[in-house]
Amino acid sequence: MASVLPLSTHDGDERLPMLLGFQRVGDTTARKTRFMDYGRGIYVYDTDGREYIEATASFYVASLGYQHAELVEAITAQYRELPFFVSALNRTSRTALELAEKLVRRVPIADAHLLFAATGSEAIDFLIKLLYFQGVARGTPQRRTVIGRHGSYHGATLGAASLTGGHHAEFGLPLPGFRHVSQPDWHGRREPGETAQAFAQRLARELEQTIASEPAGSVAAFFAEPMSFSAGFKVPPPDYFPAVTAVLAEHDIALVADEVVTGFGRTGHWFGAETFGLTPTHMTVAKGITSGYFPLSAIAIGPELYADLERGSAAVGTLAHAGTYAAHPVGAAAALKTLEIIERDGLVEHGRRMGELLAQGLNRYATHPLVGEVRTMGLGGCLDFLRRDADDRPVNDEAAADDLCYEVYQALLEAGVVARPAGRSLIVAPPLIVQPTEIDEICRRIGRALDLVLGARAGR
Ligand SMILES: Cc1ncc(COP(=O)(O)O)c(C=O)c1O
Repeated sequence: MASVLPLSTHDGDERLPMLLGFQRVGDTTARKTRFMDYGRGIYVYDTDGREYIEATASFYVASLGYQHAELVEAITAQYRELPFFVSALNRTSRTALELAEKLVRRVPIADAHLLFAATGSEAIDFLIKLLYFQGVARGTPQRRTVIGRHGSYHGATLGAASLTGGHHAEFGLPLPGFRHVSQPDWHGRREPGETAQAFAQRLARELEQTIASEPAGSVAAFFAEPMSFSAGFKVPPPDYFPAVTAVLAEHDIALVADEVVTGFGRTGHWFGAETFGLTPTHMTVAKGITSGYFPLSAIAIGPELYADLERGSAAVGTLAHAGTYAAHPVGAAAALKTLEIIERDGLVEHGRRMGELLAQGLNRYATHPLVGEVRTMGLGGCLDFLRRDADDRPVNDEAAADDLCYEVYQALLEAGVVARPAGRSLIVAPPLIVQPTEIDEICRRIGRALDLVLGARAGR
């Protein structure tokens, strides 16, 4: 099945006729790029015929793995019936409605309504836009500031990139009306000896101060992933969300759970909000909803915002918002089948069990000389390369830990495992369909990569 592509027209150091995400633009050469050709289960194969375990489900997306026959069949069937139809002007597809009906029963928001989009970034931007509309509709247009967290990634469009907690300076962002508070990075940012509880309280005070520094009544929402993968697999201390949500409740500020990564089984429950006991006001989902077989995202809108949208649109005559590809019938069919398979095959529970094996496997490296901490949650885990000494002080600085993480990532890639370096943490989060022997293999190769890097460093 491996087809070796004739890449000779783009060989060596010549720039490819495309740009790729999150890398130096000048690195987009054939020599530095791996071209994937096909996938099966949790494996992908490049054009040289090399096999890789996709141990991040390709950025936490392909939860059912590659070439899931039933999913491919459902998508094909939808293509035959209704390959496209726009959802606007009192028209939509039957499939889109079925998906909305399914999701409102599934999300942990009572009386939710769904607004569909195509990508996670769009879902974030659209929700911010709806919050602005709500402010105007209520006669409080100044209520439009949103708060995100340093290190969190929320997307590439202007609003989502502004909400993202980093990479602002080079783009001249954020736009006005975006503030950021600390990530619950207890391992990296605690004062020596500071308990997880004291750390959580400190972050809640920071949020309180940030809100107080803005004009009264101007903060509309706080956006947080229940657990941030992008910030480096930051499992929040148990007291973090109770302390933070108490502050939000006091100021009547909406809690938005960005579940683009954590939704649909990743954290051991259907949603990260359930894993962390959250009752979000609104929620954004994408990625795993279709296992990545078609781009589709959604916002679950809480009832108060929905009522304001209805009232506001009645007053102005329309809600002047649509996305041509929002609620795409093929995406809706892909999502319906993905959710059906997750339910029918008990993949949330399966993922939780596989996550326990992953935790056992990764924790074997907690005392490895290169590793500072192992964190796990649901079907995911990371090795954090920031080490602390007996006095609880960091031994290596953040930049050194980042470099080390990247070195281990490269060694692991050479060993045929795709993991995700996120700052100083190397993340593993395989598809939900992963099997025990595959978890063992991932963990075994991680051990080999760690030893290889340790040996190479000792020899320098
Ligand atoms: C938490 C989170 N939100 C939003 C997004 C943006 O999603 P997309 O890349 O589909 O626009 C991402 C992407 O990785 C994400 O991790």
